[in-house]
Amino acid sequence: MKKTIDSEKILILDFGSQYTQLIARRIREQGVYSEILSCSTSYKNVLKANPKGIIISGGPESVNAKNTLKVDTKILDSEIPVLGICYGMQLMAKHFKGSVNLSKKREFGHAEIKFYKSKLFENIVRLKKLNVWMSHGDKITKLPKGFKRTASSTNSSTAAFENHSIRKYGLQFHPEVTHTEKGQQILKNFVKEICGCEVKWKPKNIADKLIQDIKNQVGEKKVLLGISGGVDSSVVAALLTKAIGKQLECIFVDNGLLRKDEAKQVLRDLRKALKLKIHFSDSETYFLKNLKGKKDPEEKRRIIGKNFIDVFLKEAKKIKNISFLAQGTIYPDVIESSGIKNGKAHIIKSHHNVGGLPSYLKLPLVEPLNSLFKDEVRKIGLSLGLPKTLIARHPFPGPGLAVRILGEVSKEKLEILREADHIFLDELYKENLYNKVSQAFAVFLPIKSVGVVGDTRRYEYVIALRGVETVDFMTAKASKLRHSLLNRISDRIINEIPKVSRVVYDISSKPPATIEWE
Ligand code: XMP
Repeated sequence: MKKTIDSEKILILDFGSQYTQLIARRIREQGVYSEILSCSTSYKNVLKANPKGIIISGGPESVNAKNTLKVDTKILDSEIPVLGICYGMQLMAKHFKGSVNLSKKREFGHAEIKFYKSKLFENIVRLKKLNVWMSHGDKITKLPKGFKRTASSTNSSTAAFENHSIRKYGLQFHPEVTHTEKGQQILKNFVKEICGCEVKWKPKNIADKLIQDIKNQVGEKKVLLGISGGVDSSVVAALLTKAIGKQLECIFVDNGLLRKDEAKQVLRDLRKALKLKIHFSDSETYFLKNLKGKKDPEEKRRIIGKNFIDVFLKEAKKIKNISFLAQGTIYPDVIESSGIKNGKAHIIKSHHNVGGLPSYLKLPLVEPLNSLFKDEVRKIGLSLGLPKTLIARHPFPGPGLAVRILGEVSKEKLEILREADHIFLDELYKENLYNKVSQAFAVFLPIKSVGVVGDTRRYEYVIALRGVETVDFMTAKASKLRHSLLNRISDRIINEIPKVSRVVYDISSKPPATIEWE
């Protein structure tokens, strides 16, 4: 069989850990392809995937509970190297006739371990102690037969074990989280020293493979792509351009809900970097007419989604002989929409991140990013020559500024919000802070408040500023922007926009708040 950059892979069996995707990303950071499969994957299917090693993730269950999630034990009895993390380690302990019991004290958060000679701890054994991240209620109370203890903590005498002769290893702590010292080295030892994987999963190789895959799939036919100026659709455009050049046709819909000069800038950047053929639809009037009088957030979203499809289909009809629709679906979308999480069948559905277009267009999909994480998409974008400004852009919701204007959307409110947002981001750029904040934007509040500007009383709108720091956008903390900077931004907004009388900074965390206001 011909070797490809993903033929040497590590499989991750997901038992519901909140860190499963992180494990997969950490393995890929080693330059080795990893794939997440359901915990119920059979040994037969594992053999089909032909991995060089397997990681069994943690999970919220107890191995002693009735009807708990189980691994196909043939996997543990096979010659394939296996690393069990937390719940994965406990499954292994039970299978090899050790004991697992409820711990008197739940160990959560930081712990110090002492560790001993082991292939997993190669190159760090001289350190003898490590600060690690634990999260478990059960612990191993009797070592399984043939296994030796390789680490211990105050709370768990067996914080790591192994049977090197059958290449089975267990860690009670989480090497994938950054709070675990040398976690990346431990994973590297498993992947490279124990499983013998070579470094092949690198941005340039990945891009070459994806380009070749597109060529094989598409041949001489034409592909249609909706671009938004976001990272994913821009990287898809870059890959398709390299693969099929002029066979790519793009549609860019300006829904009138974009940020200041955004449409112009996106068109200019993408045309310059990729010489794209872009059909531009200026649909501001159409969207605003249909949003008139609509206050309910869900209804606004529905209208925007439906209008997008209408406009896109109208534009698409003008282009002849399209055979494929390209989409920027990424791997987390695939994982979320598959049955992996709950251990059900591994059925992968496409994630319709442009509002259900595929079902209307009835075209086969080209989804070159569907095995990649966001950080990999960014690296590939850079390796394909896309400008940094485009790759490093903060996320922007599909329904655009409509979710950042509470209540009814109007042209006047959009103009106020655009200006305020522009001033906020401009000041962040000037202070070199844009790339340090995960997401920053302004929100329009449809309430009026009194202010005094010069000698004049002003009774105008309120702008809220939101800056967050987050890794995965599932949880977030408000960015601790300097007061002097916030003061300057507020002064500029109130002085430069007559329709604003007050500026506030949102300090709520997610959860319980969300990142967007609506
Ligand atoms: P929330 O507000 O749920 O947002 O904390 C999490 C992240 O998702 C983005 N977001 C969206 N992205 N379409 C998108 O493409 C949407 O409708 C949408 N709503 C929220 C949000 O900006 C944040 O990064």
